[in-house]
Amino acid sequence: MSFPLPSGKTALAPSILSADIWRLGEQVTAVQNAGADWLHLDIMDGHFVPNLTFGPAVCKSLKGKTALPLDLHLMVEYPSKFILPFFKAGADNITVHIESKDDTYAVLKQIKDLGLCCGVSIKPHTDAAKIKPYLDIIDLILVMTVEPGFAGQSYIPAGEKNITAARRLIKESGRKIWLEVDGGINAQTAPRAVKAGADALVAGYAVFGAETGIETAIKDFKKII
Ligand code: DX5
Ligand code: ZN
Repeated sequence: MSFPLPSGKTALAPSILSADIWRLGEQVTAVQNAGADWLHLDIMDGHFVPNLTFGPAVCKSLKGKTALPLDLHLMVEYPSKFILPFFKAGADNITVHIESKDDTYAVLKQIKDLGLCCGVSIKPHTDAAKIKPYLDIIDLILVMTVEPGFAGQSYIPAGEKNITAARRLIKESGRKIWLEVDGGINAQTAPRAVKAGADALVAGYAVFGAETGIETAIKDFKKII
């Protein structure tokens, strides 16, 4: 499975950060069967953000077991060190933060040279204009609507100006680039993010923590996005 191009349809990417790791396989199958489009993997190193998650071994264990494209979001200080291990582990898209300490363009080139899709992410208070130097190489922009690090936080409405600005940059570039929004996405905030210009939404707690169950949560999202 390779990463698809934007088609005008909004993609839903459940984040396994909120999954029950004991039942990971079962829950990934549930989101896939209910109509999720990608699987979002939040990689945190305890330095770029104050939290630790998982590495290439978890990515490798999912590859081939799910048909969903693996959408990796690297919240790490030095992403360049992790591109090859995650490529070998089966990533389809790798997104890195503009605020990381590596040379962002060089890391994006490293990802593209391996034949993967690549993206850049910005935190809620980073100026979207900083994405401009990367528009010729990226396949995806990930706009954060929470401070990265944890699932289950509240959507920061101020992040919406970055969604609008990123949509404008994509239009000006004339290229096919996904605009993914991540953080605090639920039934109330998803329509706002889509209205501002998103065509891919990440949802963690609203899917895996849903009282109605995972399948119903995915189906309800698909009705409103
Ligand atoms: C936060 C992560 C998100 C997180 C979203 O740093 O990048 O992908 O899993 O979780 P929710 O949807 O619960 O805000
Ligand atoms: Zn994420």
